Amino acid sequence: MTDKIKSIIGSSNLAYVRSFGCQLNISDGEKIKGLLKNMGYGLTEDENAADLIILNTCAVRENAEDRIFGIVGSMKKLKELKPSLIIGISGCMTAQEHIAEKIKRSYPQVDFVVGTSALSSIPRLLLNCLQGQKFGMDIAEYDDFSQAAEQVRESSFKASVPIMFGCNNFCTYCIVPYVRGRERSRRQEDIIAEVRQLVKNGYKEIMLLGQNVNSYGNDFGETNAFPKLLRELDRIEGDFVIRFMSSHPKDASKELIDTIFECNKVAKHLHLPLQSGSDDVLERMNRRYTAEKYMETVDYIRSRDDGFSLTTDLIVGFPNETDEDFEATLDIIKRVKYDNIYSFIYSRRSGTKAAEMEDSTPDEVKSRRMRQLLEVQREISSENYKRFIGRKMRVLVDDVSKKREGFVSGKSNEFIIVEFEGDKSLIGQFVDVEITDAMNWAVLGRMI
Ligand code: SAM
Ligand code: SF4
Ligand code: F3S
Repeated sequence: MTDKIKSIIGSSNLAYVRSFGCQLNISDGEKIKGLLKNMGYGLTEDENAADLIILNTCAVRENAEDRIFGIVGSMKKLKELKPSLIIGISGCMTAQEHIAEKIKRSYPQVDFVVGTSALSSIPRLLLNCLQGQKFGMDIAEYDDFSQAAEQVRESSFKASVPIMFGCNNFCTYCIVPYVRGRERSRRQEDIIAEVRQLVKNGYKEIMLLGQNVNSYGNDFGETNAFPKLLRELDRIEGDFVIRFMSSHPKDASKELIDTIFECNKVAKHLHLPLQSGSDDVLERMNRRYTAEKYMETVDYIRSRDDGFSLTTDLIVGFPNETDEDFEATLDIIKRVKYDNIYSFIYSRRSGTKAAEMEDSTPDEVKSRRMRQLLEVQREISSENYKRFIGRKMRVLVDDVSKKREGFVSGKSNEFIIVEFEGDKSLIGQFVDVEITDAMNWAVLGRMI
């Protein structure tokens, strides 16, 4: 099939792939790029120059979907200017049948739609388009793609490595289990081989991905498989840092935390999504932990290192969240003192359990709570970051600073943004930095 496509498109066709949403989706986008490269496409960052456009979509919140519908709508113009242009939509939006049907019905500029577990059908769908077929759709669940495909990675020093796919948790607000299917873990030896190769190729940051990495290996009947995997990866020789996300608090074991502290290459940072500090809301979210149980995990971490870096995800305005529920969230935030939070206003996702729940909280109350939450966190972050002043931090430089001329920006082992004077030759390198100042979103320092 690949040869047939090559013979039709010749040698100068360009593909533009744009991914939205989480790092797992971005990783899928890198695999789609690998697939297209194999078929003879060149890759471009300019949609106007493209002969093929694939939008790899996210469905986690309504505003993510609206934005993508807006972009698909604006592509009508591109198609009018270049009628041979092929437009495909992949990712989590298309895994919902009603959305795939809506695209087919209302966006005639789209040539094909492919679901998250059917990415290996892209060559067949493309060939059909190139041979003049009107609209192609495959949203079946095959899942033969995620394990094997080659990737065109976006960075030459930071690599994402999915260790598992799907989710079994069915948090009542969340669409992910419906669009990504049940948990499937990759084999440990495949992950180790991939990481070993990445390190050999000069990658400095390995980000292990899964919707809940703590249940890695459960489908093989293994227990504590994730801490064991971390210990194996830590043994790989080379200068690199291992990160991972996300870690569901209900499964964040003592063994996991001990492993983080005992493995030199594992970053001293844990992203532990709280979602809400109210037991009533947590129960209605089906999170399967209480605020107290969550705090036991935090206290254990703090007992080993009271400056350990924690970050979290929070949802504001879950159906019928009361003022007391929200106060309980603020209370936990003040107790934990996260270095950073990622907060979202609840978005109703049709097909989920929470979508059926009554919700009498007005939008303006939700927005007010969100502003209050961000204000509280701003104060916590700026106070927290002062603990780094005078300390030495090892920073992997990402880019030149967007805010300060002559400065570069990177992430410390603790996942804190660090800016210091330097030039772009430092991008992709580890640099030791002495911290001299703290703000509420980053720390400043000087190269040692
Ligand atoms: N599996 C990860 C976990 O449990 O932490 C999170 C995956 S989800 C892609 C990322 C975050 O999006 C969640 O932690 C949650 O805070 C947020 N989220 C998911 N569904 C949402 C919804 N319907 N409305 C608002 N935020 C949502
Ligand atoms: Fe969604 Fe919950 Fe699964 Fe995370 S653990 S992906 S929030 S269902
Ligand atoms: Fe979005 Fe799908 Fe990720 S819904 S957050 S791209 S798993």
